[in-house]
Amino acid sequence: MYFKESTGFPKDFLWGSASAAYQVEGAWAEDGKKPSVWDKFVRIPGKTFKATTGDKAVDHYHMYKEDVRLMAEMGLKTYRFSIAWSRIYPDGNGQVNEKGLQFYDDLINECLKYNIVPMVTVYHWDLPQALEDQYHGWEDRRIVDDFVNYATTLFKRYGDRVKHWIILNEQNVFTGHGWMLAKHPPGKFKDMKTYYQVNHHAFMAHAKSVLALKELYPDALVGSSFAYGPAYAVSDKPEDQMACVDYEDLKSYYWMDVYAYGRYPRSAMKYLESLGVAPHFEEGDAEILKEAASKVDFMGVNYYKTCSIEYNPLDGVDSLGGENNTGKKGTAEMEGVPGMYKVPANKNLPTTDWDWTIDPMGLRFACRKITSRYDLPIVISENGLGAFDKLEDGKIHDSYRIEYLRNHIEELKKACDDGCRILAYCTWSYTDLLSWLNGYQKRYGFVYVDRDEDENSGTLKRIPKDSYYWYKKVIETNGEEL
Ligand code: BG6
Repeated sequence: MYFKESTGFPKDFLWGSASAAYQVEGAWAEDGKKPSVWDKFVRIPGKTFKATTGDKAVDHYHMYKEDVRLMAEMGLKTYRFSIAWSRIYPDGNGQVNEKGLQFYDDLINECLKYNIVPMVTVYHWDLPQALEDQYHGWEDRRIVDDFVNYATTLFKRYGDRVKHWIILNEQNVFTGHGWMLAKHPPGKFKDMKTYYQVNHHAFMAHAKSVLALKELYPDALVGSSFAYGPAYAVSDKPEDQMACVDYEDLKSYYWMDVYAYGRYPRSAMKYLESLGVAPHFEEGDAEILKEAASKVDFMGVNYYKTCSIEYNPLDGVDSLGGENNTGKKGTAEMEGVPGMYKVPANKNLPTTDWDWTIDPMGLRFACRKITSRYDLPIVISENGLGAFDKLEDGKIHDSYRIEYLRNHIEELKKACDDGCRILAYCTWSYTDLLSWLNGYQKRYGFVYVDRDEDENSGTLKRIPKDSYYWYKKVIETNGEEL
């Protein structure tokens, strides 16, 4: 749409920034916490960049007061962070750990002291290892009850102060990397049948948690965050357009339809049935998914990139694709499913050093697609640029990050003008943090943290980057001064 005048961002817009427990906290074995699957996975040789771990991460567990103070000085309206399940239930279920609960009480209260709205992610991938050992975690239906028990503990403890809840972070990524690409725990390769069953368990955990929360706090706002990479067909050839429809059903709507409508896309399900990999439903599942969908308040969107889709003949590319986890441009490999689609690089768009397309308009495109299909409000729960940052005279001049964020916010503003109901925009990330597979060299933060891959390196000193001061202005002017 074209509007002569912009209506701009809503008055109560939540300008935010985000993190995840494993990526920032450190203190991996303190105050009663037991290992998560990530604590174990990072110790398997070859799994992470230069064998980096989150043992210490950026020590947010001990330095959260300084981090929140910096947020307050910046004027941040919301801080999105996740809770480490294995701090709350070190064994995944059973005995609750009061010291773990206390830490998040303190963090939430610290945010509230400065009028920063805490936005809590219940699960950002760090499953207690004990549940993996007990019954293979997400692969077993028992995970659903344990998850809901854990989530309900959080709702009861923090629900008086936390209104915004994100149940799952990027279900599509942790399941895809865990059971198809072997890049995340439990490191399984192309185990399609389990992958779809795991997803069904995750959907049930999400749905039952939504219902549990609404039972306790009907006014809470809840959703899950989907890693949405909108797809463009490479041409106007009908076969490319059809390939794009296939891709979207299998790679996007497969998740978003369940969150928003409480059902799987019909053709995707038919396809999975034909392969014998469709998930098993227990009695009542379909009704629970539907009921939860009717209570979801927003679609959480983690937006980083778009992709291009081209028809892939039966003798074409057969690959799950290969990520670039080194920062050496041009090393990512193409994904393709013979007879359906392939995902070539988009020649119209620049990329980051990790081969992610940079596509600000894709953010508006994503919001429009979601608004048209689901008519739900949207929380942009992540968006940001991973880059190599260099300290110069004790400062970080990250003009490239400012440009990236400015261009995305401009497009988001247009999405607001278009009538999309955007509630919040959280950049990824607040401080620099551990990138799961890319170590500490791929930096996203407004605040530089002095450390690198070596666990004993750096002072962990916080240094606000140029982008920190720029975002402060953006918040002050509610997105008018970019
Ligand atoms: C999202 C995750 O996938 O993207 C974050 O929710 C992650 O946890 C972020 O860090 C950026 O990905 P990466 O691989 O660049 O760290």
